[in-house]
Amino acid sequence: MSELEIKTTSDGSHTLLSTDFGATYHSIHGAIQESEHVFIKAGYRHFTNKEQLSILEMGLGTGLNAYLTFLENKKVGKQITYTGIEAFPIPLEQAALLNYCELLEDVESTDVFERIHGCAFDAEIQLSDNFTFEKRLMKFEVLQDQLAYDLIYFDVFGPSTQPELWGEELLGKMYDALLPGGVLVTYCAKGVVKRTLKALGFLVEGLPGPPGKREMTRAIK
Ligand SMILES: C[S@@+](CC[C@H](N)C(=O)[O-])C[C@H]1O[C@@H](n2cnc3c(N)ncnc32)[C@H](O)[C@@H]1O
Repeated sequence: MSELEIKTTSDGSHTLLSTDFGATYHSIHGAIQESEHVFIKAGYRHFTNKEQLSILEMGLGTGLNAYLTFLENKKVGKQITYTGIEAFPIPLEQAALLNYCELLEDVESTDVFERIHGCAFDAEIQLSDNFTFEKRLMKFEVLQDQLAYDLIYFDVFGPSTQPELWGEELLGKMYDALLPGGVLVTYCAKGVVKRTLKALGFLVEGLPGPPGKREMTRAIK
């Protein structure tokens, strides 16, 4: 039976352990720290001079990346369109137990985290005037979007858990989904993944990783 267990990571923030996949949703060295480092600092902040960003998240999961992006954007004020792909959404009751709102201490935005989980799939909603959000209930493998995104948060389970998601097929779809100059960020820095990204035409950068991890990857189209 599919089960998700809440675990506390080294920075005090929760993650989920999936018994189906035998993997956690974030680094056990700190879920919030990892998401901030990989997706916000190396991804969102790469686009300092751009006022509009279209973001695709592969693996919406706990909603942590979407929520951190919302909080970051509240300070910065870009126009954001955010699309999260997820085939196995977490139950609402479980989302309610996650401690992100408590730790991130933005009382005003707590309802945003709830709406990320509570809203319907496959319909756009406004999380604020400048933040459009949609979650799509689908498998990564059938994504067909072309030239649609500035930034991809590639946050699928790792190559040892789901090797089929790290090959040319899905990474090629990511290349096609990005606009020219678009960026894919991922916590993974495996040599074979970087070589695949290069072969697809990406410019690949190895950047210092979050706590507990030497390196992460940013790939530019
Ligand atoms: C590493 S977790 C995502 C973590 C997430 N970004 C977060 O902040 O919580 C990977 C996610 O991919 C989802 N997933 C796994 N295989 C999938 C597939 N083939 N298509 C769509 N979603 C999938 C899982 O249900 C899980 O939510």
